[in-house]
Amino acid sequence: MINLHIDYLQQFISKTDIDKAGQKALLAKVTLLEGTGKGNDFLGWVNLPQELSQEIITNIKADVERLAPKSQLFVVIGIGGSYLGARAVIEALQSEFASMESGRHPFVVYAGHTLSEDYYQQLLSLLDKKDYSVAVISKSGTTTEPAVAFRIIKSHLEAKYGKAAACERIVAITDAKRGALHDIAQQEGYRMYVIPDNVGGRFSVLTPVGLLPIAMAGYDIEKLLQGARDMRDICVKDNTLEGNPALLYAAIRNILYDGGRKVEILENFVPNLKYISEWWKQLYGESEGKEGKGILPHSLSFTTDLHSMGQYVQEGERLMFETVLSVAKPRHTVVIPADEQNLDGINYLLGKSLTEINHNAELGTILAHKDGDVPVLRIEIPEVSEYVLGQLIYFFEFACGVSGYMLGVNPFDQPGVEAYKKNMFRLLGKPGYAE
Ligand code: PA5
Repeated sequence: MINLHIDYLQQFISKTDIDKAGQKALLAKVTLLEGTGKGNDFLGWVNLPQELSQEIITNIKADVERLAPKSQLFVVIGIGGSYLGARAVIEALQSEFASMESGRHPFVVYAGHTLSEDYYQQLLSLLDKKDYSVAVISKSGTTTEPAVAFRIIKSHLEAKYGKAAACERIVAITDAKRGALHDIAQQEGYRMYVIPDNVGGRFSVLTPVGLLPIAMAGYDIEKLLQGARDMRDICVKDNTLEGNPALLYAAIRNILYDGGRKVEILENFVPNLKYISEWWKQLYGESEGKEGKGILPHSLSFTTDLHSMGQYVQEGERLMFETVLSVAKPRHTVVIPADEQNLDGINYLLGKSLTEINHNAELGTILAHKDGDVPVLRIEIPEVSEYVLGQLIYFFEFACGVSGYMLGVNPFDQPGVEAYKKNMFRLLGKPGYAE
């Protein structure tokens, strides 16, 4: 199970602070579970792990069996919540060098998250040489970036395989009734999955939005859902700070924010978790950053970034607190080999595993930053597996809902995302945006 350690916070937070914030977190949790708060029409994610139908899982598995044998690549087209969750889980589980290896499952590549012309030229040139299938994912079905990407890739796919065979290689994941993607999928007869109305994009990883790409990459979505279910039981049933890490995390963030810590840095010591941080940044940034409020979510990968940003964290302006995502057990073992000459002077590490060294780097960093006046929380996960990632996802989602309500905002909308779109549409001459 996930453990949230707050042992390094003693100099920053008192027991009274924690008890007070704990009460507030509990009230926010009641608001969330009773559905009496702002944005309560977007609470479908709360029961998703329990309520997702077996039929959806069976259909996803059938699609994997149908598409995987004829796809070296699986192109996931989506932006924000329509791709970050899948990418976070896939990149956490796959080899850092998966793109260089020929695996048993399709390698997932991404589109629709950028408008860079060079990116698409490079992608199309890869797709010329590989067999591939596509998932096009958009809740609204009207987002420009994935719409542009889908038009380009659909045209490539049809030119490569012919219209009928291309159609067999496309899966659309979108709204049940509305949106351009819905209409295209209906008209062209694509395989379709529905994103439930009451689940917002950044809370949708445990719907087909995340599950189809994750299953296509060869990972076990049932274990992922089981992890989420087990964490949901804790989050929903346990009202204590000791037993419910989501309540404790929300309470601590709230205290630190009120005390002037406006930036939270999520840190990992395992590069595979980089996209967990990207997903987390969207989850918290879009949920809390509104009405002139909200902790700014930032992320760093250590020890890499200790050699770029470590200086700032240690001695720069004291704006931040840190949340270290710590992995107890690695999936593989690499031990420091012997070298009699010891010219590099690291024989004191002889026989130690890299995880032992990495854990000491982590502890050394935490102690140094604490001494540098930075509050540090530590989320310990036993390992990186589907089951644990399911727990982690649900933990962060539940804590986000609680934390947003503690802050007094609607954690489930994102009105600010529209501003750049209106300007872009006007500049590009989209009908209806002339003014
Ligand atoms: O969390 C959200 O709702 C957003 O980040 C969306 O996921 C993102 O804007 C993409 O929207 P859509 O899935 O409608 O294309």
